[in-house]
Amino acid sequence: MQLKGKDLLGLAEMTAEEIDLILDTAARMKEIISRPIKKVPALRGRTVVNVFYEPSTRTRVSFELAAKYLSADSINISASASSVAKGESLKDTARTIEALGADVVVLRHPLAGAAHLLAKTINAAVVNAGDGAHEHPTQALLDIFTVKEKKGILKGVKVAIIGDILHSRVARSNIWGFFKMGANVVVCGPATVIPPEVERLGVRVYHRIEEAVCEADVIMMLRIQLERQKAGLFPSLREYSRLYCLNEERLSLAKPDALIMHPGPVNRGVEISPEMVEHPRSVINEQVTNGVAVRMAILYLLTERGG
Ligand code: CP
Repeated sequence: MQLKGKDLLGLAEMTAEEIDLILDTAARMKEIISRPIKKVPALRGRTVVNVFYEPSTRTRVSFELAAKYLSADSINISASASSVAKGESLKDTARTIEALGADVVVLRHPLAGAAHLLAKTINAAVVNAGDGAHEHPTQALLDIFTVKEKKGILKGVKVAIIGDILHSRVARSNIWGFFKMGANVVVCGPATVIPPEVERLGVRVYHRIEEAVCEADVIMMLRIQLERQKAGLFPSLREYSRLYCLNEERLSLAKPDALIMHPGPVNRGVEISPEMVEHPRSVINEQVTNGVAVRMAILYLLTERGG
């Protein structure tokens, strides 16, 4: 089996079979990165270009490592240090990168739909590394991989996603992904950061964290995305923290083996207490490690399509 399209743009357009294929391939990639010498020749001669118009630590570094572990050549471009700063458009930047020989372009961009536009413009495979508040498919795939690895199954698992759902591309991709894999997704946050259409995606909405985490198998805390908020959507971060911060008392309402997840970056003491970040049930660092394996799988599957 192969991925259907030439690109990986979002989980909204992926099938459960394609998600399964990525998870199975990522499990094989994880074995490779557990070896003393983390290198296989699968993508020798291929070029992966990471184009980031927004800051990133986890996504950019893990794509770079993923490409290197598969023996591809990888190059990073940040908008501020490229000809974008001289006014070059996204399309022209992408055409230039393709003319320089890129097989895969990994794009993070502040505008929703930027990766889709790029995919129509160039023949190289495009991977969406986050487009505005729309989707962050590789983050959701690594989250789903982590839950499957820890729980053994996805069907029927209760996933509570808590925080700024309105501005979160991670939430949107995870809702699509977990829903397609048969999990039971609930979201929680102040009414001002819950998109009105979210219930149509098949999720249940709560405004009290104590109700949302009740009997949850997975608690996924999200950062408040102040950089994407236009106006004050709640009185203060202190007030938000009082009502929504994950702490020991709130964790005790979930199942005894519930996983604590966060896509990062974490704002300790705002959406999650420092004790919860370091808690034995926290898999936040494992999410980061799994991100390399999942991104190796995606690069491999997309370039394998090309022969
Ligand atoms: N989770 C995530 O996308 O983190 P970065 O912004 O550091 O890539």
